[in-house]
Amino acid sequence: MKSYFKEEFLWGGAIAANQAEGAWKKDGKGMSVADVAQFKPTVSVKDYKNQWKVTLEDIAKAKRTDDVVYYPKRRGIDFYHRYKEDLALFKELGLKTLRVSISWPRIFPNGDETEPNEKGLAFYRDVFEEMRRLDIEPLVTLSHYEMPLYLVDNYDGWVSRKVIAFFDHFARVVVDEYKDLVTYWLTFNEIDSVFRHPFTTVGVVEEKYDSKEATEEAIYQALHHQFVASALATEYIHKVSPGAQVGAMLTKRMTYPETCNPQDVKLALAENRENHFYSDVQVFGEYPQHILNEWREKGYQIHFEDGDETVLKEHTVDYLSFSYYMSMVASVNADQRDKVGGNITAGVKNPYLETSEWDWQIDPTGLYISLIDLYDRYRIPLFIVENGIGAQDVLTADKTVVDDYRIAYFREHFKAMNEAVKDGVDLMGYTSWGVIDIVSASTSQMSKRYGFIYVDANDYGEGSFDRYKKKSFDWYREVIETNGKSLFE
Ligand code: BG6
Repeated sequence: MKSYFKEEFLWGGAIAANQAEGAWKKDGKGMSVADVAQFKPTVSVKDYKNQWKVTLEDIAKAKRTDDVVYYPKRRGIDFYHRYKEDLALFKELGLKTLRVSISWPRIFPNGDETEPNEKGLAFYRDVFEEMRRLDIEPLVTLSHYEMPLYLVDNYDGWVSRKVIAFFDHFARVVVDEYKDLVTYWLTFNEIDSVFRHPFTTVGVVEEKYDSKEATEEAIYQALHHQFVASALATEYIHKVSPGAQVGAMLTKRMTYPETCNPQDVKLALAENRENHFYSDVQVFGEYPQHILNEWREKGYQIHFEDGDETVLKEHTVDYLSFSYYMSMVASVNADQRDKVGGNITAGVKNPYLETSEWDWQIDPTGLYISLIDLYDRYRIPLFIVENGIGAQDVLTADKTVVDDYRIAYFREHFKAMNEAVKDGVDLMGYTSWGVIDIVSASTSQMSKRYGFIYVDANDYGEGSFDRYKKKSFDWYREVIETNGKSLFE
């Protein structure tokens, strides 16, 4: 096999504000939902439901304390102060693009203000200007699990229609501010994760609702508001920044039937259909009929305002980005099967696949299948904006990490991408998740490391926070430098 990646392929890395920046109260930043996320050493790291869970009591407690030991996203990896050093390392790594997000409460501390926080705006301008100076293309997510906490407390998060206008204002301000520096935008990170961790995504605290159905209905309403907000942001970016491109961002959850029993196939189909729902709305510009039917069957009243359908239809995305970490299995006999974990779902174990230390099923072929599936369905360019393996790395005496397991993981995933490109997929780029070690989204651990660059900090924030290159650093640099050819030498 040879390399089929296009000349201008955007090899890159990804981080998110809430997992990297730290400086949670610096220069006027307000509290975000991420500042409530606790490191929970007594909860199993495979118990994702309870790792993500946030109660009203948790919120009240978080607001009373300035602790950063058990609230690791408040400290991140101090990217806020070290971004120049980190960007220089990314340059050395050869990144052509870097995916970052803008913390909404750094710009609007409560979310509903009229005037932005100038210091917040200045921070991202400095970051983007430095990226441009280094010739690293910014890929910017407007919302990555970091809405202002104030909107949860005072508006019920995205359940309130008013939040669309607040987000729209935020989006317009940052687009106006950075449109000379940013070409590639994403609206909502993993917009499909609303049901898996509703607090982090749409600010829904489940205990506020008196039944499972009421919670589900509220989440659908919040999601509808996000879809509309996403389309409005897309409209605005297209209007003021011709040439800019806006993408949707999906967690790709590829589900296989356990057997050829038609009942297994039907179950897998339902799972995959649910996953497609979110990108269908953003790419096709309309709700799939099965979702509308589901609402009717369940008696859910999802409020649409006049014009919502037109906005969704007219302002669809230019490309579809997605995260890919694992594949899943659907089985009618799930009760009798071994289970595996994952921050996105726990499910039936696939006997053909290895798992990571966190029980995530490693499946490069699943990435190939996902690429073909999404491209054949949507026929728009695809962008892999998250992929990688979380592992317990060990820093050696000479300050590196011998992470051959990471190299093996990426090599197989890159080969799968290359094959999909050979088979006709239009793939714009690839950004590895946690290109530098950052705080885990689901478990708030620092010891779940994804990076090519090691950050000397443990789960309690102890350490120098110095950065060290892992063995995989040079390996990835060569892949980028040769545009994938080194994979086949
Ligand atoms: C994705 C998120 O779901 O997975 C990232 O968009 C997250 O924010 C990544 O970090 C990996 O998950 P985790 O829980 O291992 O950090």
